[in-house]
Amino acid sequence: MGRHAGITGWGMYVPQRVVTNQELEALVHTTDAWILARTGIRERHIAADHETASSMAIAASREALERASLAPEALDLVIAATVTPERLFPATASVVQHALGANRAAAFDLNAACSGFVYALATAWQFIASGAYQNVLVVGSEVYSRILDWEDRATCVLFGDGAGAVLLQAQERPGLLSFVLGSDGGGADLLYVPGLGASPVERARQDGRYHLQMNGREVFRFAVSIMADVSRQAVAEAGLEMEHVELLIPHQANRRIILAAAKALGLAPERVLINVDRYGNTSAASIPIALCEAVQSGCLKRGDHAVLVGFGGGLSWGALALEWS
Ligand code: COA
Repeated sequence: MGRHAGITGWGMYVPQRVVTNQELEALVHTTDAWILARTGIRERHIAADHETASSMAIAASREALERASLAPEALDLVIAATVTPERLFPATASVVQHALGANRAAAFDLNAACSGFVYALATAWQFIASGAYQNVLVVGSEVYSRILDWEDRATCVLFGDGAGAVLLQAQERPGLLSFVLGSDGGGADLLYVPGLGASPVERARQDGRYHLQMNGREVFRFAVSIMADVSRQAVAEAGLEMEHVELLIPHQANRRIILAAAKALGLAPERVLINVDRYGNTSAASIPIALCEAVQSGCLKRGDHAVLVGFGGGLSWGALALEWS
C-alpha cells in the first residue's frame, strides 16, 4: 500500500428539524430579508433534544464507511473535529469509535473551531504519509444551537447543526496534494466561547452563561482576506495554478464572504460550492457536508482538482488541495 492518501468514503447527517428565517423573526428583532441579504442563509437544521455532536458524527461516519465498503475493525484512527461536545472528556471521537465497533482504532478530538475539519484532514493525512496508519476516519460534528444566545440577533441567525465525515485511506496515487494551516491567537477575543476553566473574573463577567461571543465585522474582514491567501498558497504548494481548480469548497459561514474570496481568486461562482442557504454555518461540519453534496450532485468528478478552505475561531485557518479519484 502506498503512502499517498485519498478520500474513499463520505457521509453526512443533519437533524430533521429545519428552522427558517421567518421562524427566527418570532424570536429576535430580525427579518428574513436582512438575514438573506447579509448572509445568504434561508434556513438551518437544529438538533432535537436527543441529538448530540457524537450521535450526528456516528450517523455521518457510518455512511462514510458504508460508501467505501470498509469494515469498522479496519479503522486505525478516528479524529473528531468539534467544539460542541456533550462531554468535555472523554473525546467525542472515543464515543464514535466505540459506537462504530472500530475496536482497533485510536481516537482523539481536535479543536480548531470552524477550521477543525481541514486541520483534522491534514492531521489524518500525516499519519498515512508516515506509514503508521492505513485507514483514518475524519468527522466534523457540531451543535452550535446549544452554545448560541437565542436572544442575540447578531449571532443566533448565523449557525446550524450537522455532521460530515470522510474516510481517508492509503493509496498508490496522490489524492491529497498539499495543505496550509495557520493560527493567530492575537484574534482570540474576536470569536470565542468561554470554557469551564474560565477564571472567576471571567465567570462573573459571563454571568454563568456560556454563549458564543463574536465581533462580526472584524471576523468578516479577516475571513475574506485569509480565504483567498491560504487557498492560493495551497494551490501553489500542490504545483497547480488556480485555473486548474475545478471546485472551491469553502467553509460555509456567509455567502458574501465566499463570493468576495472567490472574486479575489478569479473564480467564477459556478466553480464555488455554496450551500450556506440551507444549513447556515455548521462550523467544523460545513466543509465535509459541502464535500458530500459536491460529490452527490456531480460538481466534483474523478480527476477534478478541489481546494477545501476554512477559517474560524483562534483565529485559525487552513486550506487543502486535492485531486478527486
Ligand atoms: N437582523 C437585523 N439586523 C441585524 C441583525 C439581524 N440578525 N444582526 C445585526 N443586525 C444589525 C446590527 O445591529 C447593525 O445595526 P446598527 O447599524 O444599528 O448597529 C446592522 O445590522 C449592521 O450590522 P453589521 O455588523 O455592520 O452587519 P454586517 O453587514 O457586517 O453583517 C454579519 C453582520 C454578522 C452577518 C457579518 O459581519 C458576518 O457575517 N461576519 C462574519 C461572521 C462569521 O462568519 N462568523 C463565523 C466565522 S467561522
